[in-house]
Amino acid sequence: MWIEPCHGGVGSRTMRSMSDLPKTPAPAIPGEPERISVKTPIPGPRTEELRRRHGAVQDARTVHVYQDAKRSLGNYLVDVDGNVILDVYGHIACVPIGYNHPDLLAAWKGGRFDWCAGYRPALGIAPSPEWVDIVTGAMARIAPKGLPRLVTVTTGAEAVENAIKAAFVLLARRRRGGKGPTDADLADSMRNDQAMANGFKVISFQGSFHGRTLGALSLTRSKAIHKVDFPAFAWPTVPFPANRFPLAEHAESNRATEARSLEAAEAVFKANPDNVAAIIVEPIQGEGGDCHASHDFFRSLRKMARAHGAAFIADEVQTSGGSTGTFWAHEAWGLDDPPDIVTFSKKLQIGGYYCREELFPAEPLRIFNTFLGDPLRLAQLEVIVEIMERDRLIENARITGDFLVNSLEGLAARYPGVLSNARGRGTFAAVDARDPATQAKILEHLRLAGVEGGGSGTRSLRFRPANVFLPRHVAEAIGVLEDACKKVA
Ligand SMILES: Cc1ncc(COP(=O)(O)O)c(C=O)c1O
Repeated sequence: MWIEPCHGGVGSRTMRSMSDLPKTPAPAIPGEPERISVKTPIPGPRTEELRRRHGAVQDARTVHVYQDAKRSLGNYLVDVDGNVILDVYGHIACVPIGYNHPDLLAAWKGGRFDWCAGYRPALGIAPSPEWVDIVTGAMARIAPKGLPRLVTVTTGAEAVENAIKAAFVLLARRRRGGKGPTDADLADSMRNDQAMANGFKVISFQGSFHGRTLGALSLTRSKAIHKVDFPAFAWPTVPFPANRFPLAEHAESNRATEARSLEAAEAVFKANPDNVAAIIVEPIQGEGGDCHASHDFFRSLRKMARAHGAAFIADEVQTSGGSTGTFWAHEAWGLDDPPDIVTFSKKLQIGGYYCREELFPAEPLRIFNTFLGDPLRLAQLEVIVEIMERDRLIENARITGDFLVNSLEGLAARYPGVLSNARGRGTFAAVDARDPATQAKILEHLRLAGVEGGGSGTRSLRFRPANVFLPRHVAEAIGVLEDACKKVA
């Protein structure tokens, strides 16, 4: 990997003010607004007018604001009412280098994407040489250590679906003594009646989110509304530790919770010998409430999967792309034996996964679809990665993230009845509100004051800014959050 290793991880901060911070190498984005500017209630009248028009055709109830795509710049989202909003949510963690980065637009205008702007190909049929250049160039450069193979798709859920399919293919081959399917297996599959494969399972964690397509949804355990009324595989789930912070105050109970979680996973493996194809885990549970576990926990889990012959899948759809302070969050675990599969999407602009050689199916067409990704998005990612390298944006995420988490810790100390459990790695950070009602009130205050934020779990406030988020943006966001705390205290 091209980025430097991570520092000590969560809970190791000492700085108290912006002047204590090491200087971030990231330059400011030229022309970026200096501050929030709120002109109307948010959502404003033009957003509501658009919502009415839009809502006649699509479900527009979840829309926060309609964005003025061209005027948004850097960390500031400009909405159609002319409000300049500081974005700490980043389209649910999807914005790697802020809005309209001048160098990305210059690449566009300079013709760098001409080869992929004229049509969208079926990449498994007739890709162009430029595609090959990128997957063997930039995509190989960012590949997690030990994972040489790459599958590209479109979304995070598709990445997860295909990752578990690859794990099933490997398990089936092993159970057949290294051979592919027989004619009888093929015939059984056409009747949905596969004695062996129908018993295969994937373990996921309570509180996890792995997507909403039917296979991925059987792994997702964050909220019932995602799952209700949809048939699901009866796959096992085990508790996720959800460490409490500050770590030093909760060391003993965190250790005990992690031990219970590992025991539960071991029990599931033992109860399902030869049938667990994979265990899937998010390095930080992103939707389920920003739940963390120690590097030791993940190392033990990895060893356990290896001992039971199951694929160890790190679902990095939300954590990849640098915001945690390493390009891949799992890099911080210090594994000797890398994960078998690492999924991605969001900040990486397309979905997909990297895997070990043995997880690449022997037969073609087992992992396949029409688009197999999107060259335009991958070409943009190539430029994004160049900008991240040049401007050392991962180092920035570490420095800015330390300041962010430290500031959240400070707020939790000043408003103990309102906020608690400040936590994060890099700028992938969160703090808990007193209860769900307080979470909703704080999010409303942030919105009206011009900060685009988001919740996670039932009462957490999550930060998912772009990698160009600087200490001055932290200070601005924390000022607004402090006002919210005063209001709800
Ligand atoms: C960890 C994780 N996995 C999978 C997904 C699903 O990704 P998508 O919404 O692109 O299908 C998400 C989305 O939030 C996620 O956070």
